[in-house]
Amino acid sequence: MHANSRAVSSNQPDIHEHLAATVRKHATSPFLKPVAAHAEQAFAQAISAWRSQGSPPLVVDAGCGVGLSTLRLAAQYPQSFVIGIDQSADRLGRTLHWQGDLPRNQITVRTDVVDFWRLMTAHRIHPERHYLLYPNPWPKKRHLGRRWHGHPVFPTIVALGGLLECRSNWRIYIDEFAHAVCQLTGVAATCESFTPEPGAPLSPFEEKYAASGHGLWRCRISLPPAPASEGSHGAL
Ligand SMILES: C[S@@+](CC[C@H](N)C(=O)[O-])C[C@H]1O[C@@H](n2cnc3c(N)ncnc32)[C@H](O)[C@@H]1O
Repeated sequence: MHANSRAVSSNQPDIHEHLAATVRKHATSPFLKPVAAHAEQAFAQAISAWRSQGSPPLVVDAGCGVGLSTLRLAAQYPQSFVIGIDQSADRLGRTLHWQGDLPRNQITVRTDVVDFWRLMTAHRIHPERHYLLYPNPWPKKRHLGRRWHGHPVFPTIVALGGLLECRSNWRIYIDEFAHAVCQLTGVAATCESFTPEPGAPLSPFEEKYAASGHGLWRCRISLPPAPASEGSHGAL
């Protein structure tokens, strides 16, 4: 683990001037890109693993990297099932030095989380908890559309409901995320500073940034339940 990570540098001094218009545009236009066939397979694999454990409350770890946060969340919420999703085979393939047996209430799958979220919506499967831990910040001003709250999938993320939490070492990312959630739901969302419990960072990026002395920020919001949710019992 390295403690020499550089702080995020950006040509953007505050919340992006086009954030509200971007969020509005995505909330009012359908997201038409077809879901990839391999994403359907990864989704089916994850949902089948969840079902095999009796369909307990679901925790989603979106962009889980090496999957350490997935394991830690599974240990933290033993009555839930955690699905970690990442597009990087390299990251998911790294060996983790996990002490003890691997928790049975978790799985990691390699796929584009954008498709995974859309498949959850299509199958009316909703998370109880939903984590976006240290997404790539895309700090250049022109990259607003690559941040999750500037992406066409953002209304889908919010509509999934549950306890949504996004963490970053770039305050503006979380300020924007909170504004965008509030814009879509009317529910007040805020950016707060936090310090991980000593010796208990949730993910490798959290550990690296904390060790490098960066400020850490999060937005946690309890979203309105999704209408007509099949909750933990959606059918494929
Ligand atoms: C900065 S890393 C953070 C990893 C981990 N959450 C952590 O905190 O240690 C961001 C991760 O998001 C993943 N990612 C980015 N876009 C993705 C997408 N569309 N679908 C799945 N994973 C994605 C990357 O592969 C990478 O592992």
